[in-house]
Amino acid sequence: MKIQIVKDYEEMSRKAANIVASQIILKSNSVIGLATGDTPKGMYKELVRLYKNEDIDFSEVKTFNLDEYYGLAKDNPQSYHYYMMENLFKHVNIKKRNINIPDGMAESIEKECERYEKKIEKAGGIDLQVLGIGRNGHIGFNEPDLKFEAKTHLVKLDEDTIKANSRFFNSIEEVPTMAISMGIKTIMHARKVVLLASGREKAEAIYKAVKGKITPEVPASVLQLHPDATFIIDQEAASKL
Ligand code: GLP
Repeated sequence: MKIQIVKDYEEMSRKAANIVASQIILKSNSVIGLATGDTPKGMYKELVRLYKNEDIDFSEVKTFNLDEYYGLAKDNPQSYHYYMMENLFKHVNIKKRNINIPDGMAESIEKECERYEKKIEKAGGIDLQVLGIGRNGHIGFNEPDLKFEAKTHLVKLDEDTIKANSRFFNSIEEVPTMAISMGIKTIMHARKVVLLASGREKAEAIYKAVKGKITPEVPASVLQLHPDATFIIDQEAASKL
């Protein structure tokens, strides 16, 4: 696990965007795993700038998002589909058929999880996975648990996560209590992983993920075992290291 401590959110976003852009330059048909939340917004903004100013070409890129809320339609402004459209996809030349996000409205969630996992396999696996981190150490929506959930699955969200994510909703009651998420095995299979964290509220989770025991109770700690994982974290998120 490599740790890069940067000055602030802007530097973290620039560094992360450069990693994604160079992945695309080196392999135009890269398969990229994407994350949502506040943390990667700056990275997406910088990627859009690179697309416009430096001609980074998304036309052959395939993307797979980590997760989606269960029960939210694609056009719901709180859905991760909507987030991805607004923050990245509608600004670059990615092809619609190359965008993959779990369908939170699928009739059979079990089948949807299987379909998603198979599609990642068929695409040749993920070349580069971008991750954020929850305050409780979750990655994707893999919440602290007694075991590492292997593949894409339905998750019951933790109280802490529901509370943290309620800032995107009108009220806490509106936050979905379940989500579909890639599993730890799906994430660990990515050839390269980049985790981003900014701000003091992530310092404890970063400390446990980097220095703590490898345990499903801190899902991000599993990345200590990944052969090519880089944490790009700002000084506040690194303040407990
Ligand atoms: C959500 C997402 C995660 C994200 C985390 C942190 O729960 N499912 O993928 O990493 O929140 O979000 P933020 O970056 O807003 O702190």
